Amino acid sequence: MDKHESEFTMIQSVLLDDENDTLIILDQTVLPNEKVFLHLKDMKDVWEAIYALKVRGAPAIGIAAAYGLYLGTKASKAADFDQLRQDFGKVKEYLACSRPTAVNLFWALNRMENRLLQEADRSVAEIKEALRQEAELIREEDAKVCESIGKHALTLLKENWGILTHCNAGTIATAKYGTALAPIYLGQEQGYSFKVYADETRPLLQGARLTAWELKEAGVDVTLICDNMSSIVMKEGKIQAVLVGCDRVAANGDTANKIGTSGVAVLAKHYGIPFYVCSPLSTIDLECKTGDDIHIELRPDAEVTTQWYEKPMAPEGVKVYNPAFDVTDHSLITAIVTENGIAYAPFEESLPKMFAQK
Ligand code: MRU
Repeated sequence: MDKHESEFTMIQSVLLDDENDTLIILDQTVLPNEKVFLHLKDMKDVWEAIYALKVRGAPAIGIAAAYGLYLGTKASKAADFDQLRQDFGKVKEYLACSRPTAVNLFWALNRMENRLLQEADRSVAEIKEALRQEAELIREEDAKVCESIGKHALTLLKENWGILTHCNAGTIATAKYGTALAPIYLGQEQGYSFKVYADETRPLLQGARLTAWELKEAGVDVTLICDNMSSIVMKEGKIQAVLVGCDRVAANGDTANKIGTSGVAVLAKHYGIPFYVCSPLSTIDLECKTGDDIHIELRPDAEVTTQWYEKPMAPEGVKVYNPAFDVTDHSLITAIVTENGIAYAPFEESLPKMFAQK
């Protein structure tokens, strides 16, 4: 048992069940009312879970996709490598359509493909086993990466600070620790007492349902606010730093994260509060030169017009615009914290250096 586990329970939302060869996920759509673990047994289950946000958060999506690619390939009847590679390609293409913005999805699928190619000389059964191991490695590495991000980010914070976060970049969005919430957990272990303010995060309430829930479970001092309250808490001097996660960071530092993040960044700039993005290297996409190259997911109108698909809260037939993410301009970002260190502007120069340290 490592030090963190001995001191408080860290909820894990994505686990591999070796015995039954399934992916176990914590269903994030029913939190905080119910704590339900689902066993995903094939690629369709995984696709649906990603699309429906049962598993969500960029790193957790990547882990799930990797495991879905293993499950889909395992079901192949291929007798040799060439056939297996074709079937693998179809599964990869299928999973790649589940969500467009978080680059971790594509990063994980490509990493699985590299492993497939490395194993070309082995039997079909051995290749399938290698893919299972690779998916597990992706999960294990993510926990270590998040812990390192937490250690670096913690150096930017001081005891008793008020920290604002948007959406959920916590332990349940990753293999463990989270990205933006990792320094909170590591700080708590070292006796820091932060006061975290969680934006509720309309329309799907990741802040209210997930961030407030997981921090409260861990005994962190967390206060829930509506999205339109971040200005007042900043103005009142309650916030000393903003910490957010991300779904894709472009080469110039422009960062896609949950819708509403860029507004928080504008406010932080106005009030002179540092705005930190916590990003695993797997979320940095140097192929995207700027945020304009990032595909922003549009989600169903009902997420905005109907509260959890029960009661309408808008007139029937009203026009809705529901982008799931927005792009925060690099000029609003104080630093990007990775597992290999902290990158400052100009990000075109500092981000590649983070990869070079690997
Ligand atoms: O639509 P979601 O809930 O998957 O959006 C998630 C976010 O925007 C998170 O902030 C991001 O993925 C980082 S998770 C460490």
